[in-house]
Amino acid sequence: MCGIVGYVGDNKSLEVLLGGLKRLEYRGYDSAGVAVIGADGTMDTRKRAGKLQVLVDDLDMRPMANGATGIGHTRWATHGGPTDRNAHPHLGDDGKLALIHNGIIENFSELKNELVESGATFTSETDTEVAAILVGREYAATGDLTEALRRVVQRLEGAFTLLVMHVDQPGVVVGARRNSPLVIGLGDGENFLGSDVAAFVEFTRRAVAIGQDQIVTIRPDSVVVTDFDGNSVETDEFEIAWDASASEKGGWSSFMAKEISEEPEAVAKTILGRVHDGLVDLKELEPLGPDALTDIDRIVVIACGTAAYAGMLGKYAIEQWSRIPVDVELSHEFRYRNPILTPRTLVISISQSGETMDTLMAVKFAKESGAKVLSVCNTQGATIPRESDAVVYTHAGPEVAVASTKAFVAQVTALYLIGLELGKVRGTLSDDEIRHNVAELQAVPDKISEILTVSQAEIGQLAHWMTDTQSVLFLGRNVGYPVALEGALKLKELAYIHAEGFAAGELKHGPIALIEPGQVVFVIVPSPRDPDSLHPKVVSNIQEIRARGARVIAIAEKGDASVLPFADEVIPIPLAGSLFEPFLAVVPLHIFGMELSAAKGLDVDQPRNLAKSVTVE
Ligand code: G6P
Repeated sequence: MCGIVGYVGDNKSLEVLLGGLKRLEYRGYDSAGVAVIGADGTMDTRKRAGKLQVLVDDLDMRPMANGATGIGHTRWATHGGPTDRNAHPHLGDDGKLALIHNGIIENFSELKNELVESGATFTSETDTEVAAILVGREYAATGDLTEALRRVVQRLEGAFTLLVMHVDQPGVVVGARRNSPLVIGLGDGENFLGSDVAAFVEFTRRAVAIGQDQIVTIRPDSVVVTDFDGNSVETDEFEIAWDASASEKGGWSSFMAKEISEEPEAVAKTILGRVHDGLVDLKELEPLGPDALTDIDRIVVIACGTAAYAGMLGKYAIEQWSRIPVDVELSHEFRYRNPILTPRTLVISISQSGETMDTLMAVKFAKESGAKVLSVCNTQGATIPRESDAVVYTHAGPEVAVASTKAFVAQVTALYLIGLELGKVRGTLSDDEIRHNVAELQAVPDKISEILTVSQAEIGQLAHWMTDTQSVLFLGRNVGYPVALEGALKLKELAYIHAEGFAAGELKHGPIALIEPGQVVFVIVPSPRDPDSLHPKVVSNIQEIRARGARVIAIAEKGDASVLPFADEVIPIPLAGSLFEPFLAVVPLHIFGMELSAAKGLDVDQPRNLAKSVTVE
C-alpha cells in the first residue's frame, strides 16, 4: 500500500519520480504527488486525487520546475479520504520540509493533540501530516535532516516508511523504515529510494535492502545507513534479477493479460536449477539447520488472499509426499489467536510481495514463539524473507496487476518442490516416485501453454455472454477446492460480482439452496483416470445442481465424455496427475476473471479499493 520514490542526482527528478510511480502504482492509486527542489533552490509540490495520470495531466497543463532532488508518492488511503489535500507529500509548519509516508502511525492522534496545543495547524486529515510537522520542527532545532528524522521516528508507533527532504538541504533525501518496505538503488552520481526495486530499475540494477528500524541518507555520491540510535549498520548489495522491460506492459491489453501469458514461464523458472538427476535439490532449505527437515513434526502455512489458496494446494502435496501434518491459516487469524508452536514446527509463509503486513506480523510472531520460518517469496530484498530463517524464491518476475496470477502458479510450484524435498530427506518417497513427480511438474509449463493457445478465445466469448451475471459459484473437491476458491476470488476482485467457492461435498449441507434456474456454476472436475479419483462424486454433484436448473461450466480433462451430457459448457484441460491438475484448472479461471472484467469495461489491472502490496494490518 502506497508507493514511494526518492531521488538525488541530475536535474531530472520529475522523470525519475513519475516513471517510478508508474511502476509502483499497483501499490495504491487513490492519489499521487511529488515534491521537487528546483535548480533555483525553491521547493514545489504538486498532488492530485485519482490515478497517477491525473497528476501527469496536471503537470502537462501547468509544468513545474525540474530539479536534482525529489520525492514522489502514490497513495492507498487509510486516514483521510482520497482527496487532493490528503495526498502526499505533506509539508512541515514552515512549508520548507516535504514528507511522504507508507504505513499507519498508530499514535498520531495523541501527537496531533500535542501539536495543536503548541499552535500547529493541519491542512489534511492524515496521520502523515503529524510526522511532517514534527520532522520540520526538529530540523529547525537541529539543522540536521537525518537527526531530525531519527528523533521523530523514536516517537512514532505503528508501521512506516518515511522519506523527507528540506529546501535548505538540496541534494539530500532521508528515509526511515519500520515494518514497511524501503530499498536503495545505487547509481552513478545519483541514488534512489523506492518501496521496491521497480521504482528505479529503469536507471540501475544495483540495489540494497534496508533492515528494520534503519535510517538512510542519500546524496548524489553517497549512501549512509544507520539504525534508529545512529549506529552504522552493514548492508547487502544485490543485483536486480530482471530489467525494466519485465515490468512494462509491452503490447498487451493489460498487465494481467501479460502475466497470465507468463504462467508457463513462472513455473519453469521456479523449477530451474532446483532439479538434479531428476531429483529435487533445494539448497535454500539449508539455513533452517542440519536436522531441521527430519526434526519437524508439523507445518503451518500462513498467507493471505491468493497466496493462501496456493498454501492450501501445498498442504495436499506436502502431506501426501512427506506425511507431515500441514495446517493452512490466514496470517491475520493465526497471529491473533495464541497458536501452539514449538521448535519442531516449521512455519511456511507465502507472499508474492514479501511485504504483506498481516503475514509479516505472523512471521515475526512465529519466530518469537520459537518456530522456524521458511518463506516463499517473489520479491528480492523484501521484508518477509529478511525476517525468515530461509527463503525459497519463486521466479515469476515482477507481477504488476493487482490480482495475482503467475505468482500463484509459481507459489504452488515452490511448495511442491518443498514437499518433494521433504519426501526425499525423510525417506517417505522413493527416488522413482520423486522422479515421476518432478517429471509431472516439469510438464506443467507446456500444458498451461496449450490451454492459453486453445481455450483463451472461447473463454473470452463466454465472459462476453455473461456481463450481466450477478452471481457465480465455483465447486471443487480435494485439490479442486482451493482452485474453486481462487476462481471466486478473481471474480470478486476483478468483476465486482458475488462469487463463492465451495467444497463440492459441502454443497448438500447448505450452498445448494443458492441454486436456482440460470445460476452459473463452474465445476472443477477431477480426472476419471485415477482409480482413487473423486470423479464420480463430482459428476453426481453436477447432476444435483443441474436438476435444480444451474448452468454448469465444467473444467474437465480433455476427452472426459462423462461430463458432456450434464454440462452447458466444457473447458478442456490437458491430462495430468491428480496433484498437478490445479496448475491447469486454474488457468481458465484466471482468464475468465480477466475477460469478464474487461468485457464489463472495468480496470483489469487496478480494481477498485484494492492494492497489491497490503502493508497495513
Ligand atoms: C492482496 C492482493 C492479492 C494477494 C494478497 C497477498 O490482497 O490483492 O492478490 O494475493 O494481497 O499478497 P502477497 O504479496 O502476500 O502474496
